[in-house]
Amino acid sequence: MQYSTILGIESSCDDTAAAVWQNGKILANIGASQEIHAKYGGVVPELASRAHQSHIIPVVHEALSAAGITAGQLDAIAFTQGPGLMGSLLVGIHVAKGMAMALGKPLIGVNHLQAHVSALYIGQPQPPFPLLVLLVSGGHTQLIRAEHHLNTQIAGSTIDDAAGEAFDKAAKLLGLNYPGGPEVDRYARMGNPHRFTFPESRVPGLDMSFSGLKTSLLYFLRRQTAENPEFIAQNLADICASYQHSIVEYLMHKLELAIAAEKPACLGLAGGVSANSLLRTRFAETGAKYGLPVLIPAFEYCTDNAAMIAAAGHYLLESGQKTPLNALPFTRNR
Ligand SMILES: Nc1ncnc2c1ncn2[C@@H]1O[C@H](COP(=O)(O)OP(=O)(O)OP(=O)(O)O)[C@@H](O)[C@H]1O
Ligand SMILES: [Mg+2]
Repeated sequence: MQYSTILGIESSCDDTAAAVWQNGKILANIGASQEIHAKYGGVVPELASRAHQSHIIPVVHEALSAAGITAGQLDAIAFTQGPGLMGSLLVGIHVAKGMAMALGKPLIGVNHLQAHVSALYIGQPQPPFPLLVLLVSGGHTQLIRAEHHLNTQIAGSTIDDAAGEAFDKAAKLLGLNYPGGPEVDRYARMGNPHRFTFPESRVPGLDMSFSGLKTSLLYFLRRQTAENPEFIAQNLADICASYQHSIVEYLMHKLELAIAAEKPACLGLAGGVSANSLLRTRFAETGAKYGLPVLIPAFEYCTDNAAMIAAAGHYLLESGQKTPLNALPFTRNR
């Protein structure tokens, strides 16, 4: 059976999204982000699931209409099964199941992290495998070896915070808006990355750690503001640039270790932090240094989106997988 037109539904955290994939192309990629969390400085799970409830049906309708198709023309429904927030996942899974039942079409549950990897394949020629992916998102930071599209193994992982959390928590300490990553990135462009230094974690091998970096920023800011209460305001761009530089160079150090250990044929960068301007530049430079082709997703496929869910759904269906109607969401990676 050929699954040429697939609806993707994403609702793992605070973005409600739907997309239509058709024969390798994304016809529509619609998302509604939830502004309500900004005033709390982070995602409030109960508010997220309520917002998904009100957004999901209009978002699915908009995706179908932007794609110029009717629900009856879909061949399968792909949805994020996990990991994510339970209340948020339940909204997406119920809509996906309802549509699959009503239309009599197969359902395919997608692992959100594998979907971030699938974002690399959208609109790109087939990459050479094995592919080494640096997945950097709000909840995960991993080095992943992919033998084929979704045939993946974790080669290294953070043992505490994710890189995205390191950005978001720093932004909070600096009084910047949520989500903090784009804000730190924006100020960093105006600053000196060598003005301040933050210690690199010493976790061995391909595993990583970001909690020490975040704590060192906290103590650094406490010391400096005790002497000069205006320190942050007067040095914001340099602090952001130096802190971002520490995260990115640490990731590049681990990437180089992984290149030596895994001997990949291609490199890929995935997850929300792949939108970071310095990381994109340094990742491309590292690929060039080792003579490896590099895949970096278009901006709309970096942070949570449903196009990557539909794309991952395609590869799963192609490999003969389907999800039963009694499937449950899962909150932790598996
Ligand atoms: N330009 C940027 N620079 C740095 N970080 C960024 C940038 N843009 C987005 N981010 C970060 O990306 C993260 C969100 O990414 P994503 O949507 O993939 O995470 P998530 O879905 O919450 O987590 P996960 O995918 O692990 O479940 C946030 O931590 C955000 O600050
Ligand atoms: Mg994500």
